[in-house]
Amino acid sequence: MIGVGLIGYGYWGSNLLRNLINNRAFEVVAVADPSERRRVELRRHHIAARSLETAEAVIALPEIDAVVIATPVATHYEIARLALEEGKHVLVEKPMCASSDEAQHLVQLAKARKRVLMVDHTFLFTCAVQQIHTIVDHGDLGRITYVDAMRINLGPFQRDVNVLWDLGPHDLSIVDYILGEEPLQIEASGYCHANSCQADMAYLTLHYPSQIVVHLNLGWISPVKVRRFAVGGSAKTLVWDDLSSQEKLKIYTAGPDPQSQEDRNVLLAEFRSGDILLPLVSTREALAGVVEHFAKVIAGKEQSIMDGRSGMRIVQILEAAQRALDESLAHVRRVSVNRMRAVGS
Ligand SMILES: NC(=O)c1ccc[n+]([C@@H]2O[C@H](COP(=O)([O-])OP(=O)(O)OC[C@H]3O[C@@H](n4cnc5c(N)ncnc54)[C@H](O)[C@@H]3O)[C@@H](O)[C@H]2O)c1
Repeated sequence: MIGVGLIGYGYWGSNLLRNLINNRAFEVVAVADPSERRRVELRRHHIAARSLETAEAVIALPEIDAVVIATPVATHYEIARLALEEGKHVLVEKPMCASSDEAQHLVQLAKARKRVLMVDHTFLFTCAVQQIHTIVDHGDLGRITYVDAMRINLGPFQRDVNVLWDLGPHDLSIVDYILGEEPLQIEASGYCHANSCQADMAYLTLHYPSQIVVHLNLGWISPVKVRRFAVGGSAKTLVWDDLSSQEKLKIYTAGPDPQSQEDRNVLLAEFRSGDILLPLVSTREALAGVVEHFAKVIAGKEQSIMDGRSGMRIVQILEAAQRALDESLAHVRRVSVNRMRAVGS
C-alpha cells in the first residue's frame, strides 16, 4: 500500500480524502491543515489518519510515500518542492503553480529525484472527456477546426485567484489533452465587475499551428450555469453539455459541405443536413479515476496523462493569457479616460 498524506482539508481536499480512503492502493496516514476548524471537522468524521497542523509535519513522516496537495495556489510550489526533495510522489491541485518558473523547477526536481509529479486536472477523467478524446483521436469528426467552450456560473468567487486561473485550467487541460498541440498565439480580455482588481469574466482565444481556433468564455457573474464544450470538425461537430443527465454528448452530422480549393474561391459553401447521434456516456466520479491513475503511475503501470509537463504547459498558457488580459484592461482604461477628458474639454 502507498502511504499517503493529504495537505489541505478544505472544499476540494475533503473530496480527495474520500476518494483516497475508498482506493485500496492507498493508506491515508495523515492530513494537514493549519485551520483548527478544519481539523475538528476531520476528527468529527472519525477518520483514522493523524490530523496535523503543517505540511512539513506530514512530509517528514517516514510512512508517507506520496502527498496530495489541495491548498491555495500560492502555496503549491513550496509544498510540492519540499515533498519532492524529501523523496515523496506528488499529486498537486490545479493550477500546478502560480508561475511557469515554479512549474519548471518542480518538473526538473521530480525528474532528478525520480518521483511522480502529477497535476489534478480532474476533468480529464470524466467519462465524457475520455470519450471525446477517443472520438477525436479516431478522426471521427474529420479535421478539427474549432473548440468553443463556455464555463459560467454565479461564483464561487475565489480570494486568491481570478476567474482565468480558477476555471481556465479545466478547459485548457481538456483542450491540451484532446488536441495534443500547443497554441501559437493567445488573446485574452477580461473584466473586474464584482470587485476592483480580480477579473470575474475572461474571454480567451487561442490559435494553433493546424489552424484550429479555441475560444473560452469563463465567468463568475452569470446567474445561469453553463458547462458547454463544442468541438467542430470538417465531418461532424460534437457538443458536450456537462449539466445534462441524459444527453451529455451530441454529435451533429450536419455542417458545411467540403469544397475543392477552386470552388472555395468562387462559390459559397453548401450545407448538408444530417442526424444527431447521442453516444451513451457512463458515469463515474472523475476524482476516483484521478486517484486510481496516481496509484498506477506510482506503480509504473501507466504513463500519466496529467504529468508535471502538461501542468506546466497549462500554467504557461495562463501566464500568457494573464499578460494579454492585463494589457486589454489597461488599454480599455486608457481609452475611456482619454474619451472622458475629450468630452470634458
Ligand atoms: N480539480 C478540481 O476540480 C478542483 C475543484 C476545486 C478546487 N480545486 C483546487 O484545490 C485547491 C484548494 O481549493 P479549495 O476550494 O479546496 O480551497 P479551500 O479554501 O476550501 O481549502 C484550502 C485548505 O487548505 C488549507 N491550507 C492553507 N494553507 C495551507 C498549508 N500551508 N498547509 C496545509 N493546509 C493549508 C486551508 O486551511 C483550507 O482548509 C486549489 O488549488 C483549487 O484550485 C480543484
